[in-house]
Amino acid sequence: MKKILTIIGARPQFIKAAAVSRIIRNENSIREVIVHTGQHFDFNMSDIFFTEMDIPRPHYNLEINSMSHGAMTGQMLERIEQVLMDEKPDMVMVYGDTNSTLAGALAASKLHIRVAHVEAGLRSFNMLMPEEINRILTDRISSLLYCPTDTAVNNLEKEGYKNFDSRVLLVGDVMYDAAIFYGKQSAQKSNAINRLNLQNKSFVLCTVHRQENTDVPDRLTSIISALNEIHQVSEVILPLHPRTRKIIQDRHISLSFDPIEPVGYFDMIELLKHCSLVITDSGGMQKEAYFFNKYCVTMRDQTEWTELTDYGFNRLTGSDTKRIIEGFRNFSGRSIENAISLYGRGDAGEKIVKSIIEYL
Ligand code: UD1
Ligand code: UDP
Repeated sequence: MKKILTIIGARPQFIKAAAVSRIIRNENSIREVIVHTGQHFDFNMSDIFFTEMDIPRPHYNLEINSMSHGAMTGQMLERIEQVLMDEKPDMVMVYGDTNSTLAGALAASKLHIRVAHVEAGLRSFNMLMPEEINRILTDRISSLLYCPTDTAVNNLEKEGYKNFDSRVLLVGDVMYDAAIFYGKQSAQKSNAINRLNLQNKSFVLCTVHRQENTDVPDRLTSIISALNEIHQVSEVILPLHPRTRKIIQDRHISLSFDPIEPVGYFDMIELLKHCSLVITDSGGMQKEAYFFNKYCVTMRDQTEWTELTDYGFNRLTGSDTKRIIEGFRNFSGRSIENAISLYGRGDAGEKIVKSIIEYL
């Protein structure tokens, strides 16, 4: 039996890994060992996903978090290397573009252990984003590159991946798999709509946590101004990332309504299903808005999910107060009709696992 070692550490990775782990468990020829780097650690940023989504408990939790990028990535690299030397897996799987992703891929490749990167090929072409650095480097040292979209495959082609000793495979988006699978259960599993008194109410669903927004004072102030203004005419549900909560408090930025704590995935799906619009800087939420037929206003200057902006389902506003409000006025309450399949068929996890088994 072959051993796959999965390295995850941040919220979106738990959701992505859940979609693949579920398939691995049905296979007799491979077994998964899960390493949690500890990057995210609050109950509702981490544990809740393992419980709700039935992800096996991590075999290791390295408890590395709350540090500068270099310190965090460096400590993860050192600790993951030790785990890999002990476990001797046949392959390492990493997801997305966080510091945990890069540390896992780098530790494995230095030990000549092959790496499978799920969500390969995405580019924002903004090298100031930590995620862009992480994903470019991870792609280059991975053997199996699982792309969610045609755009991702094209990006890798343009970077010359045909000449590299790696396989580029278009499989669809594991987040779409997760949305379909867990979306069937969310109405039973979540009471978010009742708990938050949102029955028959129109509300905007908002998240903000990206470093490019939180760490530039003017950008965060400008975003909060837009949300305060929108709140005058609509309920705004803002499950707030701890990073943003802390910065709002430290800088005494005035938010005219109460944010809520981050929510679990079932609550999030129910909020997505019932909201009038998504306003976000999250990568995952841009697609989830689309999965649940909602328009999205994205408070960033670029996106990796360009198919959504090309079709007009998503609008980039940066942090500009006026443009965010304009996006709200244009899109709120409208739903996407005749959505087409931009992210596969909900079987990306199955395709990934099948291809790994063949490869090994
Ligand atoms: C990370 C990813 C980002 C991803 C996001 C998902 C990198 C470079 N960034 O950003 O791409 O979009 O996760 O949510 O890897 N914190 C808590 N409790 C937690 C988690 C974080 O208090 O459970 C605090 C940390 O102490 C830290 C801050 O939030 O001070 C930022 O956390 P960090 O993991 O460094 O980056 P994220 O902003 O979460
Ligand atoms: N999410 C969640 N609860 C929250 C906020 C986000 O379950 O309070 C989910 C969201 O539905 C998506 C994922 O977390 O599946 C996205 O994570 P995040 O926005 O933190 O990271 P990004 O996608 O920007 O890397």
